[in-house]
Amino acid sequence: MSNTPAQSRSAALYERAKVTLPGGVSRNTVLRKPHPLYADHASGCRVTDIEGVERIDFANNMASLLHGHAHPAIVEAVTEQLGRGTAFTLATEIEVRFAEYLCSRNPGFDKVRFVNSGTEAVMGAIKASRAFTGRPMIAKAEGAYHGQYDYAEVSQTPKPENWGRADSPASAPVAHGTPASALEDVVVIPFNDPERAIAILDRHKDRIACVLLDVLPHRVGLRPAEAEFVEAMRAWTTANGALLVFDEVITFRAEFGGAQDWYEIAPDLTALGKAIGGGFPVGAIAGRGDVMDVMNPLADKVLFPHSGTFSANPITMTAGLVAMELFDKPAVARLNALSQRAVQGIEAAIEATGFEACVTGGGSMFRVHMKRTPPRNYREAFASEEELVRLNLLLDHLFEQGFMMINTCSATISTPMGEAEIDALVAALRGGFERQVEREGQSARSV
Ligand SMILES: Cc1ncc(COP(=O)(O)O)c(C=O)c1O
Repeated sequence: MSNTPAQSRSAALYERAKVTLPGGVSRNTVLRKPHPLYADHASGCRVTDIEGVERIDFANNMASLLHGHAHPAIVEAVTEQLGRGTAFTLATEIEVRFAEYLCSRNPGFDKVRFVNSGTEAVMGAIKASRAFTGRPMIAKAEGAYHGQYDYAEVSQTPKPENWGRADSPASAPVAHGTPASALEDVVVIPFNDPERAIAILDRHKDRIACVLLDVLPHRVGLRPAEAEFVEAMRAWTTANGALLVFDEVITFRAEFGGAQDWYEIAPDLTALGKAIGGGFPVGAIAGRGDVMDVMNPLADKVLFPHSGTFSANPITMTAGLVAMELFDKPAVARLNALSQRAVQGIEAAIEATGFEACVTGGGSMFRVHMKRTPPRNYREAFASEEELVRLNLLLDHLFEQGFMMINTCSATISTPMGEAEIDALVAALRGGFERQVEREGQSARSV
């Protein structure tokens, strides 16, 4: 018998997982030190791990769950569909109903195509833009995450050593081995800086198929894009024969018709995902009928042939339709008001404790930064080593107190939550701020 201390079930499972899964995980997001936790079951906004510990879930599977876990209406509808079959080499009525419903939520959605992930939706929107314009290049904002397609991935995580000049950001690869040709076909623009962005776009104006934009980009700071910037991108694309593509994979939950409702302009195409799947894998491309028709298999010349084995499978369509119908205008407004309550509470806690932090957000999402000034772009949002240490201390504190957050200290609200859950999170954050202020005071005194 060894003297190894008794391990938790999660620790033991992780040892096994490392043998067959690279790093022991299937998605890097769930990695935690010293080991990930393993979910056992969940209901509403509470998740219980296999150790039996229950936490309030503000991560919501990376912003994809609007109604928390195991919503009875979704469970019932999906269970019924499971018994009738999960995927066919036939179309289904439910995909037509869901397409009609999504198009009814946004006047700019003439047509929609379903896919299986946000990555695929962004990829499809880029390929549709290329097919429509006959041009090879795309433009995207520095630091914005758009999934894993080679082109969409460029400059997703640049660092000071490779991000280049502010007036001309470098096209930095994420994955080793990304072809140079992919980097060359992506123009990186600074977020919220219309003048510099246009100067960069102008240099490639005859070759740009689309400007890809997330108007509330998580990694760029989770602060809504300034109207002047969004309008400038709309005007530039219109004037130069390019398309404006919004990535609303996360932000569609921000308003009834998506975060684009905040602006007076509309994109040509929108990539959707996450929440519209009602808890199942999903993506969709929606937008202008003439652009969407590049995928029309009945056209004389099909410019962008498009398919996918599990696209529009009836399980996802069923869950998605129920989830989105439940997320009606009053539900959107209620979640946004709860998020606003959280932001105000966190701001008050920062003020009261003097902790060096700020909070940004929009719709039903917010993010706590370890810096005093809300960032306007990726370089301002970039966390220093010292900020990362403070961030991780805060996340650990929240976790111990029973709260699951996205690992940037971002949160999303779900409909099973009420003021009690919001106020509990604010109180836990305040406790975390106080602990760190105390600790920082002690370390300052001991220097
Ligand atoms: C803005 C945005 N676009 C695209 C994606 C990719 O979506 P998926 O993980 O479903 O491929 C994500 C995922 O986090 C996202 O946040």
